[in-house]
Amino acid sequence: MTKPDDQSRMDKIVSLAKRRGFIFPSSEIYGGLNGFWDYGPLGVALKRNLKDAWWHDMVAGHDELATAAGAPSPYEMAGLDCTIIMHPQVWKCSGHFDLFHDWMIDCRDSKKRYRYDHLLGRRAAHRGKQVFVTTDASGDDAPAELAARAQKFFGLRAKQASEIEWVGELEPLAAAITAGGASLADTLGPDATAPGTLTEPREFNLMFETRIGAMASDEDRAFLRPETAQGIFVNFKNVCDTSRVRVPFGIAQIGKSFRNEITPRNFTFRSREFEQMEIEFFCRPADSAEWYRYWRDRRWKWYLDLGLTAGKLQLREHGQDELSHYSVGTADIEYAFPFLAEGEFGELEGIAHRGDFDLRSHMEGKLVRRDGELVVETGEDGKPRHRGSGKDLSYFDDISRERYVPHVIEPSAGADRATLAFLCDAYHEDEVPDEDGKPRSRTVVKLHPKLAPVKAAVLPLVKKDGMPEVAIDLYRRLKRQMACQYDEKGSVGRRYARQDEAGTPWCLTIDGQTLSDQTVTLRDRDSLVQERVPLAEVVDMLRDRLA
Ligand code: GAP
Repeated sequence: MTKPDDQSRMDKIVSLAKRRGFIFPSSEIYGGLNGFWDYGPLGVALKRNLKDAWWHDMVAGHDELATAAGAPSPYEMAGLDCTIIMHPQVWKCSGHFDLFHDWMIDCRDSKKRYRYDHLLGRRAAHRGKQVFVTTDASGDDAPAELAARAQKFFGLRAKQASEIEWVGELEPLAAAITAGGASLADTLGPDATAPGTLTEPREFNLMFETRIGAMASDEDRAFLRPETAQGIFVNFKNVCDTSRVRVPFGIAQIGKSFRNEITPRNFTFRSREFEQMEIEFFCRPADSAEWYRYWRDRRWKWYLDLGLTAGKLQLREHGQDELSHYSVGTADIEYAFPFLAEGEFGELEGIAHRGDFDLRSHMEGKLVRRDGELVVETGEDGKPRHRGSGKDLSYFDDISRERYVPHVIEPSAGADRATLAFLCDAYHEDEVPDEDGKPRSRTVVKLHPKLAPVKAAVLPLVKKDGMPEVAIDLYRRLKRQMACQYDEKGSVGRRYARQDEAGTPWCLTIDGQTLSDQTVTLRDRDSLVQERVPLAEVVDMLRDRLA
């Protein structure tokens, strides 16, 4: 079960996110839109800092002349920014058109829609009456949910709950139906009042559709991209031909992706519109296993370097049965989000060994795996089911004189999930002495300074005696170097509290002593240590700390 502490912690994080302008429900004045979120002034800065850190660490700041720690050789990195709407054939060859779907099930009674694979259930009996009770709660929450549902269904009071006889074990509804242990007719939907209201499961493609141009006919059908990756594959040749990169090299892209998720949930974790930070790394097939390990370890370290708590992160290699249709190996970097049950982790990023699936699909046509081999899928007429571009996307190594279709390692991260993980991880409650030395509880967001939306706040102790003038001059010098705020409203304690909630690592206070000895108080958000530093040096000092 979600730990009570963690549930209230998550509620507090959601409330802080709203109250302080990190994240708002989209279109909130119209009641919001399920699965869509807006980033407020602090949130947009946090997410932008995260994306900038990724772009700097993976692309712009990458040293292509040196061999990075753990890398098999030096490599190059290039960037791209592709369109959200692409040629519909892209999605046919990538497999998304045929395979990117979930099974969903509707409830005629509650009018709710569920992912079929998310429904769990167990048979309950009371005084000769039986029903297969279901829930869409996960983990340890499921048994408690089922017990409450059964109690309500049989019209029992809490003290009569023990009269319910449970038959069999808790199991996925799909498994129970396949094994004949349940039927839709005797299944009670998670929010239904009577059994038999769930519809047959139906396939539901997760791609958002649109129409291009004025005619809006079926030929003009197009899709919002469900991943940024395909823009990189279809531009592989363009990048090779124009930027003189040599294999091994990576192409990176940050951008919006869209998935019509059946059950968006857990704040921004599963949204319908979100941002991805993806790298497609092209290498010689023989070296691909080594590059896969390199990227898995490199991406894992990135989260730790930016301060995510090691004990809440997990690196999980997928089992064979979990691999996507294209993947020959995948690892997930996962975080113990507070909305998850004890011991559960949610995916932040997947690092997939995609082999040559994508480049070959865009050359030859949609591939399928048959007897362990990737072959072009054909229709009943023997022709390719989805035709490829016919363009040669192989690579010629002019030193080794080899021609091959590169293999691809793909570290694919979600910018919104990472932002949420950093926010959850940074959220703390502790006690600090107030101005009279009495303990006062505070909420503090301990973000890494690189991610913090505001790096420093400049606070004149009082609004007189020349302090605001000195403070404004410092604020203007600081502003040229980093995001900072000037605040002269309220007691200094309240101003510190505001900055703690915003995650600002440093506060600079201008007081009476500043006017006499030209020093300021530098307060550290986490240690609460206050040191006096020369006014003339403080800007350089903070800039160095951020570097
Ligand atoms: N190109 C591979 C790919 O898209 P994925 O595992 O489906 O792989 C990669 O997505 C990352 O994108 C995930 O690890 C997650 O961080 C993010 N992501 C996927 N679906 C999401 C959603 N509905 N809401 C927020 N982030 C999502």
